Amino acid sequence: MNDPLVRFGVAMESSLLEQFDALVEARGGTRSEALRDLARAAVTRAQVEKGVEAVATLTLIYDHHVRDLTEKLTEVQHELGDAVRSTLHIHLDHDKCLEIVVMHGRSDVLQAQADRILAMKGVLHGALELFAHGGRRSPAHSHSHGSHPHSHAVILPPPAKRAPVKRARNKPGH
Ligand code: NI
Repeated sequence: MNDPLVRFGVAMESSLLEQFDALVEARGGTRSEALRDLARAAVTRAQVEKGVEAVATLTLIYDHHVRDLTEKLTEVQHELGDAVRSTLHIHLDHDKCLEIVVMHGRSDVLQAQADRILAMKGVLHGALELFAHGGRRSPAHSHSHGSHPHSHAVILPPPAKRAPVKRARNKPGH
């Protein structure tokens, strides 16, 4: 890997270091590995807020009896269009559905739409996992994407204003 490690000194309170070391011990590995993971997570979080190309999974558990919820969920997914790559739907029991939506697009847009969905009445549980789709190129990911070219960790321009979406009157999928 052509990305050499750099050593640097870190100062922190001894009580904090003690607690940190306990975490490091519990998860195994070294202080350095644990610090690198924390740094990576913080960098990713900052990138995601700015808007980078990202892949995401949105996991939802919702009550499909709640009025208009299924229609609203369908509507948001249609608004996202090509950004939705795949959806898995399982009818958990009489009331509850589990849905996993795999998305690919601009991180801040995906986050905003996920927040919209998670705030909907009838969505009982849910979480979005976002991964910046890029960052520093590593040898493991230096292959050509062939007919699927895309940039890595490019800060994207703000999204174009979406046209207001007309309320669909379609029947839900189930
Ligand atoms: Ni269902």
